[in-house]
Amino acid sequence: MAKATTQFVCSECGYASPKWLGKCPGCGTFNTLIEEAIEPALSKKGAPMSRINPSRAIPLSQVKFEKYERVSSGISELDIVLGGGIVRGSLVLVGGDPGVGKSTLLTQVAAHLAEEHKVLYLSAEESCSQVKLRCERLGLNSDGLLLLNETNLDAAEESFYEAEYVIIDSIQAVYTESLTSSAGSVAQVRECASKLMRIAKSRGITFFIVGHVTKEGTLAGPKVLEHIMDAVLYFEGERTENFKILRAVKNRFGSVQEVGVFEMTGEGIFGITDYSSLFLSDSRGIAAGAVVTPSETGNRCMMVEIQTLMAKTAYGLPRRMSLGIDLNRLIVLIAVLEKRCAIPLGMQDIYLNAMGGIKLTEPSSDLAVCAALASAEKMVAVEKYTAVFGEVGLTGEVRGVNFAEKRVNECLKMGFKRVILPAKNMKACEKFKGKMELVPVTYVSQMIRALFGDTK
Ligand SMILES: Nc1ncnc2c1ncn2[C@@H]1O[C@H](COP(=O)(O)OP(=O)(O)OP(=O)(O)O)[C@@H](O)[C@H]1O
Ligand SMILES: [Mg+2]
Repeated sequence: MAKATTQFVCSECGYASPKWLGKCPGCGTFNTLIEEAIEPALSKKGAPMSRINPSRAIPLSQVKFEKYERVSSGISELDIVLGGGIVRGSLVLVGGDPGVGKSTLLTQVAAHLAEEHKVLYLSAEESCSQVKLRCERLGLNSDGLLLLNETNLDAAEESFYEAEYVIIDSIQAVYTESLTSSAGSVAQVRECASKLMRIAKSRGITFFIVGHVTKEGTLAGPKVLEHIMDAVLYFEGERTENFKILRAVKNRFGSVQEVGVFEMTGEGIFGITDYSSLFLSDSRGIAAGAVVTPSETGNRCMMVEIQTLMAKTAYGLPRRMSLGIDLNRLIVLIAVLEKRCAIPLGMQDIYLNAMGGIKLTEPSSDLAVCAALASAEKMVAVEKYTAVFGEVGLTGEVRGVNFAEKRVNECLKMGFKRVILPAKNMKACEKFKGKMELVPVTYVSQMIRALFGDTK
């Protein structure tokens, strides 16, 4: 019988078994056995010491200082997210929903880099002619760009050595022969990523790797995939929206605070610098239920419009739906408005949407959500040039938020004339006093009164 070249190892306790088992006999956990390649063993007695080159530790002062060599990707927004450009020999993972534009972005980067460098685009998902078709649509024509349609990573390895930059599209579609499990499995993704890391670090080749995301929105594959990478970028955005946001969740060579805003067009994907008015609609100030908040996304402040719609519940149990804001957060804020401000929302279906497909994760948008809900309930529109921000507590108090000065400054820049903000942040914003109306509030009810007076 042929000697087994792989074994199944428990990711929890390290128990090794020659075949896959649902339950680990070592620790009793389920579904933790993952296939691994068996490393060729040393001689039975162990390798003699003379054959091993002992490693030497060196003092910090004697470590040679290597400055990161950065190259522009040709897309300034991507350079910002990467911390100032592509670092040579790094591994960058680009994750995102299907169809969000991962291949489009990386094709553009590849074509730009190919003008001066040797670039290989390994397309495991699409044929070479499909990639060429995309290049033609995007108006890219670069003879230096090499295409390879291959799913076997071992077969493609030789061609990597000739390139300076390699794009792998995608890590879930390639496999290595050292494992028997199918492409896209946890074991294959982990093994392929480790293989690419070894090549990148030993030969100084830069890899851009496309990764798919799971239903929950995390990168498909083991967490170790993110550990191996130097930078992990997520491409966000609704498939139907033209605006996409590129966010760094890990970056060994730069801040993870940066985000890039892109627009998807027929001619390709382009960075947008004037992003602040993208998330505002024309019906603001006319229709009830729309309120603008300055949101801090990454290192940037953007004006985002929150829209709400209310309809009388038809079936006794009201529906609540939220796009762009956590649903639980919305439910809590509805309860705060009911209890602390006596606004009856119990028998209303409530729908909320943050404009442009943006996701608001910080609590500073709470007060704006409350304002939008109150506006929809009262059927009174909020004035067009009024912005609202602040965190709301369960007792109905308005808490201070960070970057208040930056937020108010963005409101001023965008032509807003009135800002409702937490009283705690007022001190930091004193300098804007003569330039616009600042309304400090301590309770949600004060904000309601400031916006709608005493209307019932
Ligand atoms: N002819 C076209 N004109 C305009 N936009 C197009 C055209 N063809 C494709 N697109 C856009 O490109 C997007 C697909 O981009 P891309 O293939 O880069 O996505 P992806 O993230 O790589 O997807 P996948 O996960 O399937 O590989 C589509 O959502 C569509 O909006
Ligand atoms: Mg693709």
